[in-house]
Parts: sequence; C-alpha cells; structure tokens
Amino acid sequence: LKVLFVTPEVTPLLKTGGLADVSAALPAALRELGVDVRILLPGYPKVMDALPDKRLAVSMTHTGFHGEVRLLEAELPGSGVPLLIIDYPQFYERDGGPYIDHNGHDWVDNAQRFALLSKVGAILGSSASPLDWRPDIVQCNDWQSGLTPAYLHFSPPPSAATVMTIHNMAFQGCFPPLLTTALGLPPSSYGINGVEYYGQISFLKAGLYYANHITTVSPTYAEEIQEEPLGFGMQGLLAQRYLDLTGIVNGIDGHEWNPATDKLLPHNYSVDDLSGKAANKRALQHKLGLEENPDIPLLGVISRLTYQKGLDLLPAIAPALLEHPVQIVILGSGEAALEEEFIALAQAYPDQIAAVIGFNEGLSHLIEAGADIFLMPSRFEPCGLNQMYSQCYGTPPIVHATGGLVDTVVDATPENIANGTATGFVFRHTTVNGLQDCIERALDAYGDKDRWHKIQYNGMSRDFSWNRSAEEYLALYGAVLQRV
Ligand code: ADP
Ligand code: GLC
Repeated sequence: LKVLFVTPEVTPLLKTGGLADVSAALPAALRELGVDVRILLPGYPKVMDALPDKRLAVSMTHTGFHGEVRLLEAELPGSGVPLLIIDYPQFYERDGGPYIDHNGHDWVDNAQRFALLSKVGAILGSSASPLDWRPDIVQCNDWQSGLTPAYLHFSPPPSAATVMTIHNMAFQGCFPPLLTTALGLPPSSYGINGVEYYGQISFLKAGLYYANHITTVSPTYAEEIQEEPLGFGMQGLLAQRYLDLTGIVNGIDGHEWNPATDKLLPHNYSVDDLSGKAANKRALQHKLGLEENPDIPLLGVISRLTYQKGLDLLPAIAPALLEHPVQIVILGSGEAALEEEFIALAQAYPDQIAAVIGFNEGLSHLIEAGADIFLMPSRFEPCGLNQMYSQCYGTPPIVHATGGLVDTVVDATPENIANGTATGFVFRHTTVNGLQDCIERALDAYGDKDRWHKIQYNGMSRDFSWNRSAEEYLALYGAVLQRV
C-alpha cells in the first residue's frame, strides 16, 4: 500500500503545533506496519537548511503555477521516512513563519502558496504523475492541503483515493472567490456543493466536500463537529457525510516523549522510581527562579496562547489560587494580550509564577517532567498531545471535557480511583468557577500521597503509542480503497 501524506509542517524540521508531531510520527508508524509512505511538504528555509543530502527527483513545468516547480527527495531525520519537498523559492523561501510574517499577519499569497502544495499532492496522486511511484491513498491534513481532493476530483481517472484529516476546524483557509479560476478550480466548483463557504473559497470545505473519506483526531471531536458551535458552519456537511467520517485518536512518539529515555531531561525516571522526577522539579524551579521546594505543588502549562486553549481563565483565578502554596509555570506564545497578562502575573507574583513567552522544545520537556500537575483547560481540543505526554511523565492533567481530552483522560472520581483507571481531572464548564473547582480538587488529591501515586501510576502505565492508531488508519485505507 502506498500513501502520500501531504502536510504543511513536520517535526523536527518545522513545527507550530501538534500537526507537526503527528506528521512525523504517524507516517513512521505506518511504515512499521509495511506501508510505503512518503511525506510531501513545502521547502521553507528551515526544511531546506536541515537536509543537506536532498536530491532532485523531478522538475515540473505544467503545474498551473508560473515556471519550474522542482521536487526534491530526502529522508526525515530520525525515522528516515522519505520526504518529497517542493522547491519553489517564490513561495517558500522567506523569513518568518510558515503561515504568518514577522508582524503576525498572514502571508498575502497564502492561497497560492498552499494551492501549490495541494496541487503537487494532486499531481502525484493522478495518472499524470511524473514520478514512477503512484500512491493508492493521498492523505491531506488541514486546510493547507484541502484543495488536493478537489483537484483530484476534477482530474482524469485513474487517481488515488483521498482522505482529508481535520486537525482543527477553527482554521478554514478562506480566500476571495475571485481566485477560483486562478487557483485552477473549475468555476462550477464555486457553490454550496463545492468549495464555497459563506461567500468565500474555503480550502478546508473543499477537502471535506471532495475527499473520499474524512477523518479527525478523536472520536469525541468527530461527534462534536457535526453540531454547532464546533462545526464552525460546516456541521451540516459533516453530519450529512457522517458515514464517511471517522475519529482516530492520535498517539504520541515514544522516542521523543518517554521520561526513561528523554534526552532533553537532566534526570530520567520511570514509573518504578520517581526520584528523577523530583530532581527535574528542582531543576525547573531553579531555572525559573522559583523557590526550590519539593512540597509546593507546581502547575505546568505549555500551549499556544489562543482562545481555543482557555488559558484566559487563569489570570482571573490566580489571586485566589495563589493563596494556596502553589507554583505555576507557563510556556507559550500567541495572542499578544494574553502574553502580556502572563508576564504581568509573573511580575506580580515572582515567587509563585514564572512565564516564558516563546517556543522552547527543551523547556517543554522539563515542564512535563518537573511539574506536578498539567493544566489544559481548552474550550475545544480536537485531540491534544500534552495531556498524553503529561500522563506518561507522571504529571496528571487537569482538562476540560471536550474532544480528545475526553477520550484520553480518565477523571479521578472516587469510583475511578477505586477501579484503577483514574489518570487526571476533568471539568465540565470552561468558566472561572469550573476551572477553579477542578484545580482545588487536584490540589486536594495531591495532598494525599497514596491517592496521588495511584493516579500517577495509572497514567504512566497507559499505552499511548502510535501503533494502535496507525493500525486504525491502515484498516480505514483498506476500506476506502474497496469503496471507491
Ligand atoms: P495544538 O496543535 O492545538 O497547539 P497539541 O496539544 O496537539 O495542540 O500540540 C501542541 C504541541 O506543541 C505539543 O507538542 C506542545 O508541547 C507543543 N508546544 C506548544 N507550545 C509550545 C511552546 N511554547 N514551546 C514548546 N512547545 C510547545
Ligand atoms: C491541532 C489540534 C490539536 C491536535 C493537533 C494534532 O493542532 O488543535 O488538538 O492534537 O492538531 O492532531
């Protein structure tokens, strides 16, 4: 079975969120199951610079985009999964993020930049492919590759079957309808039965409408997006296609995220001996200038700072919360107002709160290991990775009952503690009170060492490996190929 995995980001080359981790780990896990999988992504400077051994695979001149589009071959560092990189400097060779410039504005030509990614994915999956390798399945990820199913739908058969994977419905890739023909879409596709979404072209809608199958990254989120508000206006289409919609929960990369072998930690540890965890806590407190006290419960946050993540609730409860002996460590970046709020909080309570604004892989591992409790009050969360990392690291998470958080965290109710399944703390309402009560409940459990160790043990003993999820994808690909 051959699979082309089209993605705008992949760890360790370029990461803005969980999609990059999934784009590295899922193809690697599929490969272990015998799937011949290749990853297609844009040649941003970070990608080009990290891969000195890349080779020209093919040069294309009939893509619908101006001039020559070169396709390079390389291997993903770590797993060795084959990469296909689009070398098109006009679109990708620029400083700044993959989607936004230095000022935080979307690149003005994002429609064209990700139409090209989508188009190359479609060409490789079509009968016109210039490679002697033709995928059976093209798996697209988020809006950036959403036009691939549309292009393939309108290209002459035979072509690969398409699976559109939603990592986040909140990002829809909307652009002016005037671009329809410039992007190589037939004018007839601009309509409710096509790429149109509230008077614009939506790349995500295109993927959801034209793909042979749709997946998303947890079963609960697959249900939630068939209704308002989490369907973001596409709930009707998704509900109509519910037979073609599957939720498969993400796994985590056990090479990167295992406290016993994690190379980014000063001290390794395992479920049998947590002394290394205490040493990491001391290292974290030291590094961030907090009192080096093993007994004060330390709450950790690692997050994009956006409305989705619900962290705007934290400043409101901080004064009351900080009357307890508690420390809070926040690592994140995103909305400027939230960044400023956390910096101000850290200045107001320097002994109890540390805020680090930015993206820092090493510190994120130290927080997972050094914190006692992980905080993830997301308003919605398609899957979420940190709540799984934190369970493996003996850092029970506090989560809102939504999406993948429901599917991966078991609430520490007396019943679940008694039956040995509790791994964290789940709350129902993303309100100040909802979060505050749940934190109090976690602090209470933390104070009871026996209870706490049971919750830690349950989380650390769980299997979040990709293997099981990859098997589900494999079974799904088989079913899709039978149907098309
Ligand atoms: P999302 O993709 O919505 O941001 P996920 O939980 O799926 O949420 O994945 C987020 C990933 O990004 C995790 O691996 C997390 O550790 C990482 N991450 C987020 N913010 C930062 C940061 N500031 N520094 C380091 N890693 C971060
Ligand atoms: C998105 C979601 C997150 C998910 C990740 C990987 O960024 O917000 O919940 O874990 O994609 O699928």
